[in-house]
Amino acid sequence: MDHCPPSTLTSENSPLGSDSMRRLVLPGVELYLGDCRELLATLKADAVITDPPYGIKQDKGMGGGGYDSTGRYKRKPRQYAGGWDDEAPDAELLQMVIASAPVAVLWGGNYLPLERGGKWLVWNKEQVMPTYSDAELAWTNASGISVKLYTLHCNKARIEMGLHPTQKPVQLMAWSMDQAKVGEGATVLDPFMGSGSTAIACLRTGRKFIGVERDPSHFKTAGERIRQELAQGDLFLGQNSELNP
Ligand SMILES: C[S@@+](CC[C@H](N)C(=O)[O-])C[C@H]1O[C@@H](n2cnc3c(N)ncnc32)[C@H](O)[C@@H]1O
Repeated sequence: MDHCPPSTLTSENSPLGSDSMRRLVLPGVELYLGDCRELLATLKADAVITDPPYGIKQDKGMGGGGYDSTGRYKRKPRQYAGGWDDEAPDAELLQMVIASAPVAVLWGGNYLPLERGGKWLVWNKEQVMPTYSDAELAWTNASGISVKLYTLHCNKARIEMGLHPTQKPVQLMAWSMDQAKVGEGATVLDPFMGSGSTAIACLRTGRKFIGVERDPSHFKTAGERIRQELAQGDLFLGQNSELNP
């Protein structure tokens, strides 16, 4: 992570085993398109902060719907391709994820086959509809933590959503890093990157990021999102330098 060229998409000098895997390097950010099971042994970070698939099939039959002019109920087509929530990672993969850094935070931990003895972070979504989930839980092995609560209203969180079906708010991922005491300049790994919310949290808080995503369309979304975030940073730097030549 120390010497990142400005922007490259390459399979050279990287732990990539097959041609279907790709690596994108941007300032402070290293992204892999591929299965994290094949990559984890080669990736080292100060913390793993992630949100694996929960395996509760959120991608099946969740389109919602409405009534047409004839009064017939019609399901809305699903907004996203299915398959992304088919399977939670197995216990062996989770062990590899946890072993890849001294400290780990795993959102959806209550759905995952994790070892006993972790602590819990709680996102209170202030949900008023009893049919939706009120809260989400993250498992962590961070020391010195008892249960911690973060409150962010689901509507407020939705403002920046729409890039991934189970997108997490950037603020929530930044808060998770603070709870795990991940220092400024530290490298955070997210092996189930999705649209890159953890990456954006890192860029906004002065941390470095390594991400892995196996779905090419989510990988592309994350890459574009991160480039946009970096470009905004450049814009602000440009403004400052005009003020302070
Ligand atoms: C719950 S989503 C993460 C969403 C993310 N937190 C965000 O805000 O966009 C989990 C992601 O892990 C990816 N994934 C599942 N298994 C994987 C694997 N073995 N290696 C890499 N990515 C995987 C899925 O394609 C999915 O995009």
